[in-house]
Amino acid sequence: MTTMSKDAKSSQEPTSPPTQEELFERVGAIWSKAGDIMSPWHAPVEAMFRPLTDAMLAAIPARAGTAGLDVACGTGLATQALARHLGPEALVVGTDLAPGMIAHARALATQPGMTGVRFEKAAAERLPFPDDHFDVITCRLGIMYFLDPVAALREMRRVLRPGGRIAFVTWGNADRSDWSRTTAHVMTPPDPNASPAPEGIDFRQPEVLQTLLTNAGFHNVAADARLVPLPWPGSVDDMVAFSLAMFDLKYQSDHPGEVVDRDAAQRQDVMARMRAACAPFVTDQGLAYHAEIVVATAER
Ligand SMILES: C[S@@+](CC[C@H](N)C(=O)[O-])C[C@H]1O[C@@H](n2cnc3c(N)ncnc32)[C@H](O)[C@@H]1O
Repeated sequence: MTTMSKDAKSSQEPTSPPTQEELFERVGAIWSKAGDIMSPWHAPVEAMFRPLTDAMLAAIPARAGTAGLDVACGTGLATQALARHLGPEALVVGTDLAPGMIAHARALATQPGMTGVRFEKAAAERLPFPDDHFDVITCRLGIMYFLDPVAALREMRRVLRPGGRIAFVTWGNADRSDWSRTTAHVMTPPDPNASPAPEGIDFRQPEVLQTLLTNAGFHNVAADARLVPLPWPGSVDDMVAFSLAMFDLKYQSDHPGEVVDRDAAQRQDVMARMRAACAPFVTDQGLAYHAEIVVATAER
């Protein structure tokens, strides 16, 4: 059986509660590692997430303005999509807490059409922009990870101009995600008694984001859950290797100070079970997954 062991270094850490700045640093360091792990998989991940980007951008009229902000931009591929959506005159900023993500985002945005795109390290809870600055704000798969999503929504409202639009996409119910069911759930079956949202706010329910946006002072708030294709254009082996690396890192981020300690036989076993779970989704183009997402939009 897979065991999880304590990292020796963590037992020597001071016990006083970390400041918000220290928490931002820690979270940023973990996400920077995620950026490095993802780097061989940028192209297939982007193809897989394309339907999420399309759903998010469909909530924003094309050329809705010239100043765009993509919060928690990660490697910046949704930021690039926002720039294309707003047109060649647009100036679009991608911000993220993780310095490693910002480095990858800058390295990936070098095509000629991306001259109006730049990236800046910033926590969503503290956006380094003046009031009423942006016409459009997007956030793809970010808000559920924020330390203080309510503060982040207040900040986003502050930097959005009156009448400006915001659009989010988050994951819906993981039981309705073929990706989760064939990878994460194979590694660690979901605990039926576990709280649905260990972090405190359950972004998988559209009503939750709807209420948070309304409470933050946004208007014309809409949110819905929907099933979308999640097409993985690579092999099953690539999906298994990618997922194992990502979910091991997620375990370590959810359990600070622990490391995943899996011997070679256990690793082979997990991979074999994931491959078997993926088999029904294999097509000539890769894996034909679907997943539930939540799309939320609002106006300031
Ligand atoms: C799942 S990734 C999504 C990245 C990107 N939006 C995409 O769809 O490819 C989540 C991102 O949220 C960022 N993040 C987490 N907490 C944050 C915070 N408080 N402020 C800004 N970014 C944060 C992480 O660094 C990571 O890049």
